Amino acid sequence: MNYIRRTISAHLACPQKSLIGKFVMRKMAKRNDYLERCAVECACLSPTDTVLEIGFGHGLGLKYAAQKVKEGRVYGIDISELALYDAEELLHEEIAANKVTLYHTPVNNIPLNSESISMAFSCNSFYFWPSIPTACAEIHRVLKPGGQLLTVQNIDNILARKKRGGFERANVDFVAYMKTLEEVGFEDVKIEYLNDQLTSKPYQCIRAIASS
Ligand SMILES: C[S@@+](CC[C@H](N)C(=O)[O-])C[C@H]1O[C@@H](n2cnc3c(N)ncnc32)[C@H](O)[C@@H]1O
Repeated sequence: MNYIRRTISAHLACPQKSLIGKFVMRKMAKRNDYLERCAVECACLSPTDTVLEIGFGHGLGLKYAAQKVKEGRVYGIDISELALYDAEELLHEEIAANKVTLYHTPVNNIPLNSESISMAFSCNSFYFWPSIPTACAEIHRVLKPGGQLLTVQNIDNILARKKRGGFERANVDFVAYMKTLEEVGFEDVKIEYLNDQLTSKPYQCIRAIASS
């Protein structure tokens, strides 16, 4: 049982191009669609925003963001080849129109200029990053002063998965994460407890503003 849980967790951390990887990705898309939609709602994007999603997985969050950003650009980074493959398929029109750009790269090495992004978001990903301080500092670097980072998830679901076992590699310390955001220069770091207006499902949004 623990072997199955560990295998699924490994695919959550970085979905692989295998039968199980594809199965996990499909489940994740279904389960987390509302979180990606809510993250984009929380972002209150303007048509000219330049947006970055970290750990986009299936790509649904990028799709929602691209619908809001009419004149701006949307970037996505992920370390998973399967994520790149699936998101390229989902977003082929937006990619062809040069509205969405995907990068196969880790969060600690974002191939974007400093102060080039007005809104960054991430769903269900930060607890897999190998060095959270390095990652947060790198996100801060690419954000414009006053730009925001939104970190969206359902904490109860994550803690329940941790309790069930097989999630040992995930660093699900939300308080430490928020402290780290402050340490690397984010301001007004706070957590909002919210419910999706469409499904009533609960979620939490950690909002952090890049210092000038
Ligand atoms: C649990 S999945 C979440 C996918 C999607 N955001 C969702 O909520 O359904 C975590 C995603 O983060 C990506 N990821 C993990 N570590 C990463 C890192 N160091 N840099 C960038 N992406 C990473 C994984 O490849 C995976 O696609």
